Amino acid sequence: MAIAVRALTGDEIAAALDDLAALRIEVFAAYPYLYDGDRAYEAQYLSEYAQAEDAVLVAAFDGERIVGAATAAPMRHQKAEFRSPFEHRGLDATRLFYFGESVLLPAYRGHGIGHSFFDAREAQARACGANAACFAAVIRPDDHPARPADYTPLDAFWQRRGYALIPGLVTELAWKEHGEAHESPKSMQYWLREWKNAA
Ligand SMILES: CC(C)(COP(=O)(O)OP(=O)(O)OC[C@H]1O[C@@H](n2cnc3c(N)ncnc32)[C@H](O)[C@@H]1OP(=O)(O)O)[C@@H](O)C(=O)NCCC(=O)NCCS
Repeated sequence: MAIAVRALTGDEIAAALDDLAALRIEVFAAYPYLYDGDRAYEAQYLSEYAQAEDAVLVAAFDGERIVGAATAAPMRHQKAEFRSPFEHRGLDATRLFYFGESVLLPAYRGHGIGHSFFDAREAQARACGANAACFAAVIRPDDHPARPADYTPLDAFWQRRGYALIPGLVTELAWKEHGEAHESPKSMQYWLREWKNAA
């Protein structure tokens, strides 16, 4: 499978936002996100991200077509509810990078592209002077009725990448789930990796 993974910045991000929105709606429709996405929500959410200084969009290309993407930007540019769990704990968020979504079409999974997404986002974080990176994953009960029988959590992958779940470090993000009439807040668990050799 010849997939090229490239880090997009600046105006290149704006040009890829429609593709990213379509990927998010398709991939996050599945468990555990169950996202009933729409373009208006996407336009608002993604415009905030795209305006952030030092943002990166790591895109996986099959030829000209974007088949997967991952985002990152400094935590200082994130909304207050994303930053506040760190600030309330006295954790220094000034040199922290926030990793947004990783979304890859199912046909392309299992070939190391998820690792490439982390490599490229971590490279951007380090290049921008960050000494830590975090992301947040939705919290679902193990017996959630929509959980597929063959669902494999990504926790072990994230641990192998050097990230640790920080108990109690939780934020909320609202979206409309399939079967819901309106958006509702979902609890999101933070995972964190610090670089010991950071300057
Ligand atoms: C997260 C995601 C981008 C990873 O993509 P990927 O290219 O398949 O990942 P990789 O091939 O690099 O493999 C990464 C890890 O995923 C796991 N994995 C890979 N293929 C898998 C499969 N078919 N089934 C279950 N787990 C799998 C493995 O544990 C692997 O870790 P390892 O290489 O240390 O063994 C992709 O699974 C995805 O889009 N998932 C849905 C959206 C999501 O939940 N995103 C994360 C939160 S935003």
